[in-house]
Amino acid sequence: MSNRTFTMIKPDAFRNGHSGAILDRIIKEGYAIRALKLIHLSAEKAGQFYAVHKARPFYGELVAFMSSGPIIAAILEKENAVESFRKLIGATDPAKAEEGTIRKMFAASVGENAVHGSDSDENAKIEGDFFFSGLEQC
Ligand code: CMP
Repeated sequence: MSNRTFTMIKPDAFRNGHSGAILDRIIKEGYAIRALKLIHLSAEKAGQFYAVHKARPFYGELVAFMSSGPIIAAILEKENAVESFRKLIGATDPAKAEEGTIRKMFAASVGENAVHGSDSDENAKIEGDFFFSGLEQC
């Protein structure tokens, strides 16, 4: 079990002014921020990040959305980070997310779902390293 996960505050949440509330919630839930960056992804970089979904029908829409405005990328640390953070953000589709989860509170649809959270320790490392050099990870 790793104690780190990777997250993004997606363009919808950033655009709607929810970044501060989401970061505040994350910190209050006990996650330590180990890396943090505001970045506007190109379509090429968004496509690389989500390459695993390339064959899915929503891939084009996902890439266009994720490159539509700035995001905040972060590496977070807490015991059992990957699993606990996925509970905190809630189901991918906010309509199915539990009350009080970040997606329930801040997301509008499955495509524009406010935040990303890594789904495994292995992917947390791959995704964190996609955005941050070793020097940028505390
Ligand atoms: P995320 O957890 O960042 O990982 C993959 C993303 O694909 C997911 O969040 C959703 O935003 C997006 N996604 C999943 N299913 C759909 C769908 N049916 N339509 C559009 N986007 C989707």
